Amino acid sequence: MKVLANDGIAASGVKALEKAGFEVDLTTVAQDQLVDYLNSNEIDVLLVRSATKVRKDIIDNCNSLKIIGRGGVGMDNIDVEYAKQKGIDVINTPAASSHSVAELVFAHLFGLARFLHDANRNMPLDGDSKFKQLKKTYAKGIELRGKTLGIIGFGRIGQATAKVALGLGMKVIAFDPFLDAVNLELDFFDHQTVFFNINTITKEEVLQQADFISLHVPAQNEYVISTKEFELMKDGAFIVNAARGGVIDEVALVKAIENGKIAGAALDVFENEPTPEIQLLMNSSISLTPHIGAATSEAQDRIGTELAQQIIEILT
Ligand SMILES: NC(=O)c1ccc[n+]([C@@H]2O[C@H](COP(=O)([O-])OP(=O)(O)OC[C@H]3O[C@@H](n4cnc5c(N)ncnc54)[C@H](O)[C@@H]3O)[C@@H](O)[C@H]2O)c1
Repeated sequence: MKVLANDGIAASGVKALEKAGFEVDLTTVAQDQLVDYLNSNEIDVLLVRSATKVRKDIIDNCNSLKIIGRGGVGMDNIDVEYAKQKGIDVINTPAASSHSVAELVFAHLFGLARFLHDANRNMPLDGDSKFKQLKKTYAKGIELRGKTLGIIGFGRIGQATAKVALGLGMKVIAFDPFLDAVNLELDFFDHQTVFFNINTITKEEVLQQADFISLHVPAQNEYVISTKEFELMKDGAFIVNAARGGVIDEVALVKAIENGKIAGAALDVFENEPTPEIQLLMNSSISLTPHIGAATSEAQDRIGTELAQQIIEILT
């Protein structure tokens, strides 16, 4: 059986598949040549990340296809229901990257709390000529310990983020319209385990009480955070969006930063990917990353292994 990993797959996945007798093709085939390639090579499994689109044209015209696999969470690039109707299995790896995204949130939060994002921009320019001035500029940092983290969307990544926060000594509050309470299991290096119960509260309460807010909701039709929500927040709050572009109103965010309501923000995802607004990129109060939440070796390894396990289970 043949697997085409069109957007790549970690070595762990290749190894597991080959061990089970699969042939793994790591060619990156251009979107408009995919139908021909899948047919002429009689591909059984097509694996993608977010780059390759798997629409009706592929589903209708590639008879050898038995599984479409997405390494990661969102399946916006696959016509999932249509594929299932046609008898093709569609698989993904929803849990594999949760901790990686949670750690990126904290990379941003620690950075914002001590102005690292801005210091890293200015030290190369002025670090030798204006050292004392920069030292003063970045002197009013704060600690995360003891502060309140408000999580909006308390699913897999929201919960992984909560665990990191609890380990740091933060207070965690959360809003999720579909969950009343969550019992978190915190695992430590020596196999000790602590259970921590968190009852969700209203969105308004989270916005009013949190020092730091982190968004972990799925893609939405409407903004989850816009002008009204910024107004409810504490003065000087910080906000992170590592969920999906379009969850936070970017124009309202820039305004809230400019009028001093929000002290800083971090964005890993943008309304206009892959060309984010220049007003965001140039804003010295925003810590920026180019959608790398899941991009760690560990997450990619887990994604590869989980995809391989599911393929082997279905086809052997
Ligand atoms: N930055 C990255 O690279 C990266 C990587 C992986 C996932 N993500 C994104 O992270 C987000 C969360 O992923 P997940 O795996 O935790 O999903 P999940 O489905 O496990 O959790 C999402 C939670 O949000 C809740 N929710 C839905 N609508 C809501 C609303 N309006 N307000 C509050 N809560 C709401 C749901 O009830 C659910 O519990 C997704 O948007 C996903 O695409 C980003």
